[in-house]
Amino acid sequence: MIYETAPAKINLTLDTLFKREDGYHEVEMIMTTVDLNDRLTFESRKDGKIVINVEHNFVPSDQRNLAYKAAKLMKDKYQIKEGVTISLEKSIPIAAGLAGGSSDAAATFRGLNQLWEINDTLENLSSLAAEIGSDISFCIYGKTALCKGRGEVLTHLPKPPSAWVVIAKPDIGVSTPEIYGALNLNNRHHIPTEDCQRALNDGDYELLCKSLGNSLEDVTMGLYPEVAKLKNTMKNSGVDATLMSGSGPTVYGLVQKERQAKQVYNALMGCCNEVFVVRLLG
Ligand code: C5P
Repeated sequence: MIYETAPAKINLTLDTLFKREDGYHEVEMIMTTVDLNDRLTFESRKDGKIVINVEHNFVPSDQRNLAYKAAKLMKDKYQIKEGVTISLEKSIPIAAGLAGGSSDAAATFRGLNQLWEINDTLENLSSLAAEIGSDISFCIYGKTALCKGRGEVLTHLPKPPSAWVVIAKPDIGVSTPEIYGALNLNNRHHIPTEDCQRALNDGDYELLCKSLGNSLEDVTMGLYPEVAKLKNTMKNSGVDATLMSGSGPTVYGLVQKERQAKQVYNALMGCCNEVFVVRLLG
């Protein structure tokens, strides 16, 4: 039996550059991981089947599950006869902008790489992962990276300065294609990707706070005003910086002291059901 943890990611930056001919958007984003984890176990099966066990009303256990897609791709690519039972314990909110599904898929690539004794490199797994989703290549490594292309072209970056992250998800799910579909590239704001990179290189927490930015924030907030409201509440609760992650609707805030994080948590508890206080991992 193999165990893997699948950490959630947050975007420190997300810039959308242009729409490509294949329908995806060329992006430039800095992503990092937080200590909020799904847990997966992998058990070999002799019958060759891929079986997903998950107890969650909104997570499918069939071919639509990204962990299933990852297992199928590994099985076909490396011509594996064995099957696998994947048990998935969810803690990361779903349809949230935290890459929960992508991180589960990445953990599946890593887990099956061991279980089926494929022993391929993370680099090869990361390129293979791009076939089933843009954020999975990053999640293969986790840590912190500048992600370009449609998200799969990675440059590894130093881990962020230590901080607490308060994560709050409004009680709605958001579809990434819907948000990208509503994006108007003529209304682009400047996203300070280079400042964020400098903040990471220098371990500069203040600059990191100033350099957070996400081009999709206005789009999601235009469609779902509760996200703007939550961000405002977060701002007024004493965080050093706040941003929506990915295509949303999750909003996070950064603070340096645990006491501050608890204050922010208390201020947000009435606003939504899913609020977490976690460490920035990077
Ligand atoms: O790659 P993934 O399956 O996560 O993408 C979901 C959808 O999000 C895509 O079908 C596309 O509509 C949108 N997307 C995009 N540009 C990206 C990543 C995702 O337009 N760089």
